[in-house]
Amino acid sequence: MGRGKLEKFADMERYENVFEYPYHVMEQKPFDMKGQWRERYFKNDGPIVLELGCGRGEYTVELAKRFPETNFIGVDIKGARMWSGATQALEEKLPNVAFLRTNIEIIDRFFDCDEVQEIWLTFSDPQMKSVRKRLTSTYFMNRYRKFLTDGGLIHLKTDSNFLFTYTTYMIQRNSLPLLFSTEDLYHTEGLDEQTRNILGIKTYYETQWIERGLNIRYMKFRLPHGGELHEPDVEIPLDEYRSYKRTKRSGLSVAK
Ligand SMILES: C[S@@+](CC[C@H](N)C(=O)[O-])C[C@H]1O[C@@H](n2cnc3c(N)ncnc32)[C@H](O)[C@@H]1O
Repeated sequence: MGRGKLEKFADMERYENVFEYPYHVMEQKPFDMKGQWRERYFKNDGPIVLELGCGRGEYTVELAKRFPETNFIGVDIKGARMWSGATQALEEKLPNVAFLRTNIEIIDRFFDCDEVQEIWLTFSDPQMKSVRKRLTSTYFMNRYRKFLTDGGLIHLKTDSNFLFTYTTYMIQRNSLPLLFSTEDLYHTEGLDEQTRNILGIKTYYETQWIERGLNIRYMKFRLPHGGELHEPDVEIPLDEYRSYKRTKRSGLSVAK
C-alpha cells in the first residue's frame, strides 16, 4: 500500500534533498543558503534550473537524469506531491536534485542575483481571474529577474490556451526574445532528437490533459534584465474546460 499524507510529510522532514520553507517557517527561520546552493548543497559549479509549480517533479527528476552536470530544483507548496519526486531522486541517488517547498510568490528570497540559469513552468495554473498570480505575469517576471541570469531561459509547457495566449502577448508587449513556440507540440515537425526527448517528458497533469484530447503548447523565451516590464492590455478567451467561478451578473468569457 502507498504511503499516506502524514507519512509522506514525516519522510519529507528527514529527506536531505528537501527544504521546507512555507511562509510561517520563513518568519521564524530565515533561509541561509541563498546565493550558496552550489557550494553548500550541490558541491559543484554547474548551472541551476528551477521547475516552478513542479507538483510531483517529473521534469526536475527526468532532466536531472539526462543532464548530470546541471543542478535541478523543483519548487511547489504541496508537500505530498513533491514527495514522489524527492523519493525517486533519493532512491536513484541523484545528487543534482533538490526540492524546495514554499510559495513561489517569495521565490526571490531563496536565490541570489544570477544564481539561476533557467526556469521551467510546467502546466501552471492559468489563474484566469488574477494576473498577479499568473506565473508568467510581469509581477513574477520582475521577481525572476532578481535571480535569473540576464537573458536566462524560461520554458512554458501548458494545456491552457489562456495562459499560452497571455504569455505570447506579454512577450510581444515587452519585446522579449521568443526562441520557439508551438500550439501543438506533439504534431510539430522538425524538432531535433534531443529537444523531442526533453519535451516528451510527461507530467501527471499533462497526462490527464492529453487523455482529455487537449493540445499541448510549448514556448521558450529569454528574460533580459533591462527595461521596465508592462502588462499587455488585451482580452483573452477563457479556457472553457476550467472552472472560473463566474458570477451570475458577470457571465464573463474573456479576461485580461
Ligand atoms: C496544475 S499543477 C501542475 C503540477 C505539475 N507541474 C504537473 O504538471 O503535473 C500546478 C502546481 O503548481 C503549484 N502552485 C501553484 N501556485 C503556487 C505557488 N504560488 N507557490 C507554490 N506552488 C504553487 C500547485 O501546488 C500545483 O502543484
